[in-house]
Amino acid sequence: MIYRSFAKVNLHLEVLGLRPDGYHELRTLFQSVDLCDLVHLEIGGSGVRLAVAGQALPADERNLAHQAATAFLAAWPVADGVRITLEKNIPLGGGLGGGSSNAATVLQGLRHLLGVQQSTDARLEELGRALGADVPFFLTGGLALGSGRGDEILPLPDLPEREIWLVTPALEVSTASVFQEFRELTGDREVSSMGSLVWGEGVDWEMAARGWNDLQPIVMRRFPEVCRVYNALVEAGARTVRLSGSGATWLALFDDSIESSDLLTALAPGCRVFRARTLTRTSLQRLRVVH
Ligand code: C5P
Repeated sequence: MIYRSFAKVNLHLEVLGLRPDGYHELRTLFQSVDLCDLVHLEIGGSGVRLAVAGQALPADERNLAHQAATAFLAAWPVADGVRITLEKNIPLGGGLGGGSSNAATVLQGLRHLLGVQQSTDARLEELGRALGADVPFFLTGGLALGSGRGDEILPLPDLPEREIWLVTPALEVSTASVFQEFRELTGDREVSSMGSLVWGEGVDWEMAARGWNDLQPIVMRRFPEVCRVYNALVEAGARTVRLSGSGATWLALFDDSIESSDLLTALAPGCRVFRARTLTRTSLQRLRVVH
């Protein structure tokens, strides 16, 4: 079976403070987008065998998809082995959650393939959380509020789907180092000095556009190239330009649909430019299985 493994963006990301476990307390708004990797799953053999196409990534235990399959088979020993092939398309280290998405897709795909009961939701979430802070979001998808390490997920009513441009400079940003620098600059403050955005009954696109990303100034300061791309997108007329996660992908929302990626490609040379669409949970369900 082949499954689509969709990327995410953070429409909003507040860092509220340092936690006793060394992670940061977050308040973030996750949104699924249709940029995706493909995950091929086949039951057979023994143990976990992984192959990766499209990007230079480790295909062993260091890969989150490998870890996800191992964790699944340990929790439900209903098969001896699984073969996984990842067709990578989501940029690495870009703040789009590709590795976490692949891990969630492996967990859900194996449950589907092996016919493990739906009542496994809570257990799957627990396995996901142990793999990485972003994994639980990908088990839910759509629009969701993330709190705690970003791993406590509250699904929100979906926003209408819309075009969203993703522009990724040719550099990988280490999430750990961005959080580290944030800590040095803010002196372990407990509450975001920018205050908290209060989400009411529901979130609409106007509200999402008023969000921000507390990690953005850090990444802009460290990488002049990332700053240049921001300026280019503002110049191109984007109404909202925001860093996703710890970067370096910019998400850009325009008032009107842009016909071709040529304009953005010319303005942001060396970047990968994706014309994407946001996805509701209903669309995710429909698109999850390729065949
Ligand atoms: O969860 P994940 O392994 O992707 O996080 C990578 C690193 O980012 C963590 O090891 C931690 O240093 C930092 N991080 C954090 N607070 C979070 C999420 C990540 O400090 N809520």
